[in-house]
Amino acid sequence: MTSTGVIDLNDVELFASEGHHAAFRELRAHAPVYRNPGPDGSGFWALTRYEDVLAAYRDHDTYSSAHGAILGGSFRTGGDTASGDMLVASDPPRHRMLRRLMHPPFSPSMVARVSTQVRSLLAEGVARMRQEGGCDFALDFAPLLPVGALMALFGVGASDARHIVGLTRRMVGYRDPALCPQDDDERLRLAHAQADIFEYFADLLDERRDEPDRDDVLGMLLRARLNGLPLDDTQILYNCMNIAVGGNETSSYTTCAGFLALLRNPGEWRRLREDPGLLPGALEEILRWSSTNAYVQRVTLRDTRIHGVEIPAGEIVTLWNVSANRDPGQFREPDRFDITRDPNRHLSFGSGVHRCIGAPTGNAELAEAFTALIESGSAFRTAGDPVRLRSNFILGFTSMPIEIAG
Ligand code: HEM
Repeated sequence: MTSTGVIDLNDVELFASEGHHAAFRELRAHAPVYRNPGPDGSGFWALTRYEDVLAAYRDHDTYSSAHGAILGGSFRTGGDTASGDMLVASDPPRHRMLRRLMHPPFSPSMVARVSTQVRSLLAEGVARMRQEGGCDFALDFAPLLPVGALMALFGVGASDARHIVGLTRRMVGYRDPALCPQDDDERLRLAHAQADIFEYFADLLDERRDEPDRDDVLGMLLRARLNGLPLDDTQILYNCMNIAVGGNETSSYTTCAGFLALLRNPGEWRRLREDPGLLPGALEEILRWSSTNAYVQRVTLRDTRIHGVEIPAGEIVTLWNVSANRDPGQFREPDRFDITRDPNRHLSFGSGVHRCIGAPTGNAELAEAFTALIESGSAFRTAGDPVRLRSNFILGFTSMPIEIAG
């Protein structure tokens, strides 16, 4: 909330302090179709109830993805976007064609390769943590997930993968001084961070152009055909970027939030250690609890009305997963972390045509992380206050010190 008591969902401090849960409770109860204020009329609408968020996800005739999923996140200057070229920023029927092309990087065999690579990095990570008596979980352990995933998906070495994670971390953390110098204008900062990722993949594409047979994302996209034609460089690069940005921070920050929830709910952690068969359900609860991708953005293609509130065509509407996932209308005792919650139809991967194509990959990474932690047999505890990322889009941690208690 601002000093005047108005809820501002664009205020990153609200999310850094976990004050957002109280704000969303208020909005779900009293203003489920909320006009979030912004300077110079730049406000946006916010849907916060489960049923409304789900309905909007499923109604792509009314809610367009063409302007991208992040507020203020156009990918080119001049208001134009990656619209129609990047999977997440396209609408049907174009989206359907792109999605078909994007299936190979998410095949079961690729998911298995990601698991194997992540498992080997995590084994080293656990050994290091035991040797040193602890670590900064957010910096030293959780990023091993995207590093391993990128190595498998793009066929790059560990140091390149770490470099890409650094770039996507800066992009997602463009409003956090710990991750990105706050000197430029906010939109420019985001645009520069996006341009750096784009450039990295442009160089990789140049290296790989003559190797279309490679069994990795670039090889698959080089072989792909859209209406009988190869993808152009822009389409290839936007979709590499979509995979990197979509997968890097989400899986690692979800691991942080999930481990913190387990350490703060020792009874649940004990239950899981004693019966690792509970892991699949625990992962669903970790996904609901963390709601790492806090919202997605849409733009209305036509006038619409929700609970009597008119939203004209051409307006920005945000769909708040983090609020839907704590809606008491959908979840019994939503503020309780319960690894055996059933049913648990959370919206952390979205819904409808854009539902996360990387969900099996993300789930596999999370399963590896929590299996490694359980199998380490160590007793962990927090060793200082975790520091939350300054972002209202991705909920994460810039620091989370933990130590091994035995
Ligand atoms: C815990 C982990 C993850 C979470 C919470 C998450 C969340 C989401 C959400 C909410 C969407 C829907 C976006 C929208 O409707 O506009 C999405 C889409 C997407 N995600 Fe994930 N994601 C995760 C892991 C991954 C991974 C590991 C990858 C890739 C390796 C990935 C790649 C993508 C892509 C490419 C899309 C666009 C799909 C489309 O537009 O059809 N995600 N993700």
